[in-house]
Formats: sequence, structure tokens, C-alpha cells
Amino acid sequence: MANVTVIGAQWGDEGKGKLVDWLSNRADVVVRFQGGHNAGHTLVVGNQTYKLSLLPSGVVQGKLSIIGNGVVVDPWHLLKEIEGIRAQGIEIGPDLLVLADNACLILPIHRDLDQAREAASTNKIGTTGRGIGPAYEDKVGRRAIRVADLADRAALEAKVDRLLAHHAPLRAGLGLPEFDAAGLLAELEAMAPRILAYAQPAWLKLDGIVKSGKRVLFEGAQGALLDVDHGTYPYVTSSNTVAGQAAAGSGLGPKGAGYVLGIVKAYTTRVGEGPFPTELFDEVGQHLGTVGREFGTVTGRSRRCGWFDAALVRQSVALNGISGIALTKLDVLDGLPTLKICTGYRLAGEPIGYLPAGLKAQSQLEPVYEEMEGWSETTQGARSWKDLPANAVKYVRRIEELIGAPVALLSTSPQRDDTILVRDPFVD
Ligand code: GDP
Ligand code: IMO
Ligand code: MG
Repeated sequence: MANVTVIGAQWGDEGKGKLVDWLSNRADVVVRFQGGHNAGHTLVVGNQTYKLSLLPSGVVQGKLSIIGNGVVVDPWHLLKEIEGIRAQGIEIGPDLLVLADNACLILPIHRDLDQAREAASTNKIGTTGRGIGPAYEDKVGRRAIRVADLADRAALEAKVDRLLAHHAPLRAGLGLPEFDAAGLLAELEAMAPRILAYAQPAWLKLDGIVKSGKRVLFEGAQGALLDVDHGTYPYVTSSNTVAGQAAAGSGLGPKGAGYVLGIVKAYTTRVGEGPFPTELFDEVGQHLGTVGREFGTVTGRSRRCGWFDAALVRQSVALNGISGIALTKLDVLDGLPTLKICTGYRLAGEPIGYLPAGLKAQSQLEPVYEEMEGWSETTQGARSWKDLPANAVKYVRRIEELIGAPVALLSTSPQRDDTILVRDPFVD
């Protein structure tokens, strides 16, 4: 099988960036297909740490990187991220980075709206405040400014006027000042040549790549339970995060997704509001947060932590058509005497094996746990299966059994090379 699609199987921050970086030396091109700079991916290579939000994680290995049409792009942020990575010694030019010319832009009005809504709301989502939701609203509302629009100054003015006319009452309702159209146009105009240098019909580029027999690695952002359709709505992000989106968000047909690799953390975390059945508020939760360094890459917020939820990941396996998983952060469980795995829930006293759609039902779920003995040895930095303690192997095997998908890769530290390959997704 030629291509691999990497997606988060929980609520994000599973370690997608690390795995995409690791896998990208087996691929010819890495493609982002949804989300925006709400994503935060940390890659550790030797003594260098790279933090990426919008750039595909393949850039660090010098792979051709494509930002697909499904991504919402804050152009100023993109330029800043390119500069930051350049300062770390990685040169990014149009030979290395392709930006879909039909991707929609995130503008300052989107960030304003996102932040003002969160500040005003009594029912906060806990967004990253980067304008993601409002930008997708304008995309489906057919009034967004797209990358290609930057090339047509005459038409751009009318488009900006139309967009601002839509935003004016929203801003007024939230007590935000009227937006300066002329200022925005001037800023767009000044930035346009730098962004347009990367703009291309990405679908066409990808078509050529695939026809020449090259391998594509799709990089998902967020996680399946943050998907706007399948996640814990409304506590979700505003895009489809599931593997099926790789096709629509890049312009490669559905057969192109190939092997679907679900990235799964050995426990569960979530940032922001919303239901979380296995959340822990005790010292075990604190252990996971401290040892796992569970702080958001984008906002610095503490991530909520809890036991591994097999019911949730089983659902994710189905929703994404997961072929195999990469299990990450097993090392964070080192030293815990007892581990719990949630195998299903009880709702109003009745067993239920999945997360129901209703928010009320979701918040009333009682997890059903089974207990396993932990291990006192360290798994941190293990690079071979035989280095793992027997109880760690048992834990991994039980997870495979409960979620109905095999482990293809195991990650044992933030470092790129602390990764155990069990079966190669590119050849499986
Ligand atoms: P992403 O959003 O899915 O790319 O994940 P993040 O980068 O936001 O969060 C994962 C964090 O865990 C990062 O700080 C990684 O460096 C780190 N990490 C990844 N894999 C492992 C692992 O196996 N063990 C440990 N201890 N940390 C890991
Ligand atoms: P990566 O790619 C974890 C969460 C936010 C919030 C909700 C909506 O690093 O896994 P948004 O700004 O997208 O409108 O916020 O989604 N969220 C993430 N949580 N990891 C992410 O990305 C996230 N991107 C968004 O915390 O709850
Ligand atoms: Mg992250």
C-alpha cells in the first residue's frame, strides 16, 4: 500500500507530530488536510525541539509539504512559522512548501470573533482563540477570502466589503469596534506576494505525485472526538478530523488515504471544555499531567487527564477505518502500581459500549473499568519490543484486543528515534 493517513484517535495531542516526523522519511510528500493553527505538534530531534501548528511535520525532514484546501490558513501566522523554522536551520521555500490556492484564509476578524464569543459566553467551548470556527463558518457561508483571491486586487476589495458587512452586526453585538476595511486591504496587499509564492493547485500537484508512484503521508490535526460531526458536539473543533477528510481536504480521491494509522495515547487527555468520562481529579491524574508534560502547545493550558478509554478508541477505529495504531506515551505509565482501562460505560444503570450522541447522555456516562497490574521498570526510551516489561506488553495486548486494531508502532519518549516499529504502515 502506497499512502498512509495519520489521524488522532482521541481528543488531540496524541503525538501525531512525532509520528508524522518519524514516518516522513518513508514518504515523498506530507499533506495537511484540515484544521489550522489550532493544532500544536511538538517534535524532538536530539537537542532540538520544533513546534509546528500549520506547517506539515514533514518539513523538518526536508520533505515536500502540502497545505491542502481543507485547511484554514492564517497567512501572517504561516509566514511567522516559516521564519521560526528557518531560524532553527530549516530553509522553507516554494520548492518545499505548497499552499492550496483554494484554501480559505483566517483573518483578524475571525480571531476577534472567536475570542469575543468565548469571553462573552456562559457556555464556553474552550477554543484556542485562533479564529478557526469563524473562518470555517465563512467558508461554508461562501463569503471567505481564499488564497487565490489575493492575486486579484480588484475583486478582493468587493469580497472584503461583503465579508465585513456580514461581520459588522456580529461585532456590534459583541461590543467590538467596527473593522477598518482599508487597513485590512492594505495588509492583505502587502502580504499577498509572500503567500502567493507558495500557492498552487495542490490537487494537481498531488495528482502528479501519485501518478509517478510516490508515497503520500496525510497528517491529521486534532482528534476524532473533536470532529464536528462525530465528536462531542458542540465541544469540538469546526472541521472534520476523521480520516475520510484526507480526500476532500486535499483533492486526492478517497482511494488515496491508504493505511489509516490512528495515533493513540496510552491514557486519555483533553484540552478545553466538554465531556470526558474517564477524567481523573486525583493524584493519578496529576501524575499523568506532570510526567506526561500535558500542557497545550498552542495555549499553554493544562490538559485534563484520565484513564485509557477503550470504548472511545473502539469508536474511533470504526469512524476512521483505522488499520493499525501507534501507541504513544506508554512511558508515562511507568511506576503506577495499578492501571485501569475503561471497557465501556453504564448509562442510567444499563451497559452501553459507545459514546452516545446526546450531550446529556455523554455527561451521565459511568465508566466501567478493568484493572491491570502496572510495572515498576522503565519503558522510557525503549527501542525494541523485548525491552518492555511483561506487564507493559500485557497492557498493550489488552488495548489491541479491546479496540479491535493492532499496534503498528509504539512510542516511548518524545525523541524521534525512541519509536518501536512493529509493522510498517507503508508496506502493510
Ligand atoms: P500532537 O498534537 O498529536 O502532535 O501531539 P502534541 O505534540 O501536542 O503532544 C504530544 C506531546 O507528547 C509532545 O510534547 C511530544 O513531544 C510528547 N510525546 C510524544 N510521544 C511521546 C512518548 O511516547 N512519550 C512521552 N513521554 N512523550 C511523548
Ligand atoms: P492537535 O493537532 C487538542 C480543541 C480546543 C477546544 C476545541 C475547539 O495539537 O492535536 P478550536 O480552536 O479548534 O475552535 O477549539 O478543540 N482543540 C484541540 N485540542 N489538540 C488540538 O490539536 C486541538 N485543536 C483544537 O482546545 O476544546
Ligand atoms: Mg497538539
